Amino acid sequence: MQIIDLRNNNIIITGAGSGIGRETCLLLDKLGANVICLDIDKNGLEETRSGMVGQNHEQYVVDLTDEIALKEFADDVILKKSLIHGLVHCAGISSRKPLNVLKKEGFSKIMDVNFYSFVELVKHLTKKKCFCEGGSIVVMSSISSIKGYKAKTEYCVSKAAVDSFVRCMALELASKRIRINSIMPGEVLTPMGIKAREMALLSGTDEIVNQPLGPTEPYEVANLIAFLLSQATKTITGTSVRIDGGASV
Ligand SMILES: NC(=O)c1ccc[n+]([C@@H]2O[C@H](COP(=O)([O-])OP(=O)(O)OC[C@H]3O[C@@H](n4cnc5c(N)ncnc54)[C@H](OP(=O)(O)O)[C@@H]3O)[C@@H](O)[C@H]2O)c1
Repeated sequence: MQIIDLRNNNIIITGAGSGIGRETCLLLDKLGANVICLDIDKNGLEETRSGMVGQNHEQYVVDLTDEIALKEFADDVILKKSLIHGLVHCAGISSRKPLNVLKKEGFSKIMDVNFYSFVELVKHLTKKKCFCEGGSIVVMSSISSIKGYKAKTEYCVSKAAVDSFVRCMALELASKRIRINSIMPGEVLTPMGIKAREMALLSGTDEIVNQPLGPTEPYEVANLIAFLLSQATKTITGTSVRIDGGASV
C-alpha cells in the first residue's frame, strides 16, 4: 500500500505567489517536500514563503514569457537540486475578448504563459537525467478546455492546447517513467476566479460557471495536485481530472 509521501521531494511550482499555486506550496511544505517557488510577483512569493516552515525551499522571481530567464531558471534549479521529482504549472492568465477584437498578438500573450512556458519547462527539465524516474508533472487546465464560453476564446484555446500536449507527452515520457496529467477546475475561489465571476456579473452577458456543489476551495485543488504528484497514483498519466462541482456534467 502507498500513501501520499512527498518527503524530501524537490518540486517546482509556478504561479506560487497566488491562488492555487500558493495553496499547493503551503500543502507541500506540510508534506515535507522541498518546494521551488516561481512567480512574476515578488511580493506574492514572499507572502507564500512566510506561510511555509521548511528550510529547504527556494524562491525565484521569473517572468515565464522571457525564454532566456526561463532557461536560466531551469539550469539553476538543476544545478542546485540535481534531481527534480515534480513540476506543477499553476501560473496562468485569462482574458475577455469577443470575436471582433481577437488578434494573433492576444493569442500569443496568453499562449506564452498558459502553454508555451510549460512546454519549455517540460523540455528543459526532462532532458538528460535531471527529472527523476517515477517523477510527476501536473498542469492547470480548466473545464474551458472542453466547454465554450462567450468572449473566452483565447483562454479556452490555451487550455485545450495544454490538454492535448499532456496526452502526447504522456506517451513520449513514459519510457522515462515520468507521468504527466492536467487538472480541470470550474470555479475556484482565488483572485482569478473571483475576478472572473465579478466580470461576468458586470457584463451581464457572459456565462457564469455554476457548480451544482458550489465553488471549489483552493485547498481542494492543492490536495488533488499532491495526489497526482505522489506514487499513490503511479499509473495515472495522460489524463485531465475534473474538479468542478459538477459544472461540466
Ligand atoms: N481560479 C479559477 O477559477 C480557475 C479555474 C480554472 C482553471 N484555473 C487555472 O488555474 C491556474 C491558477 O489559477 P489561480 O486562480 O490560482 O490564478 P491566480 O491567483 O491569478 O495566480 C496565478 C499566478 O500566476 C502568476 N503569473 C501570471 N503571469 C506570469 C508570468 N508571466 N510569469 C510568472 N508568473 C505569472 C500571477 O502573477 P500576477 O498576479 O502578478 O499576474 C499569479 O501570481 C491558472 O492556470 C488558471 O487558468 C483557475
